[in-house]
Amino acid sequence: MPRVLIVYYSRTGHTARLAHVLADEICRRGCDVDTEAIRVGRDWNKWLLPVPLLPLLPLLPVYLLSAGFRRVWHRVYLQPEQAIQLLAFPDVSAYDLVLLGTPKWLYTSFPVARWLKTARGLAGKRVAPFATFCGPPLKVFELEMLFEPLESRLRARGATVVDRMAVSSDYHPYFIFGEMERLFRFISRKAFRRPLVDFTLDGVVGQAEVQRFCDAVCSK
Ligand SMILES: Cc1cc2nc3c(=O)[nH]c(=O)nc-3n(C[C@H](O)[C@H](O)[C@H](O)COP(=O)(O)O)c2cc1C
Repeated sequence: MPRVLIVYYSRTGHTARLAHVLADEICRRGCDVDTEAIRVGRDWNKWLLPVPLLPLLPLLPVYLLSAGFRRVWHRVYLQPEQAIQLLAFPDVSAYDLVLLGTPKWLYTSFPVARWLKTARGLAGKRVAPFATFCGPPLKVFELEMLFEPLESRLRARGATVVDRMAVSSDYHPYFIFGEMERLFRFISRKAFRRPLVDFTLDGVVGQAEVQRFCDAVCSK
């Protein structure tokens, strides 16, 4: 029976919910699943989290417009990290497949960035990242910005990236009156002609994406 480790960080519960849905689906496909929730040493105040991410904001238009700029930026930007507690499964070498889950904090969440440095046994391992973010699956702003640098870091540790998946949580902690959620709901209608809820775990596109991802990682 293939052994799968699902390791994830979740600050407000959405990536945790996705991780549990994936665990059930992967079990149903005949795999043996272990799950690890990454825990931070100390929670950061939510208003401090965006501070190290601010350098991209003035450059966002050029980031969105230029693939060359994105390639350079992904090599040079500072990926913040956050201290994590001791892991239950610090060595992943016994597993056939690792699913690594993160919320999008512009890029990889800080605790998952630390996990990438801490985990042992990634060399030669099949790994598939998964994520939640507020927005719809915008090709550059959401998917490329999150997965390209994350997957480079996985490859730098010797892992083989076999797939990736993301759903919208339709939730954003900023600012005061749900401004970001409203913005992403508007963008979803404009860019995809679909309500944002379609891309969540309860929506048709989100549910199809879960099935596609689980079929893909279990068959590879
Ligand atoms: C610091 C920070 C940055 C974020 N950046 C983005 C972003 O770039 N795009 C997006 O759609 N959502 C962004 N979000 C929203 C989260 O990705 C979203 O709420 C996620 O589903 C939370 O997952 P969790 O409940 O597992 O912590 C950000 C949230 C935080 C705290």
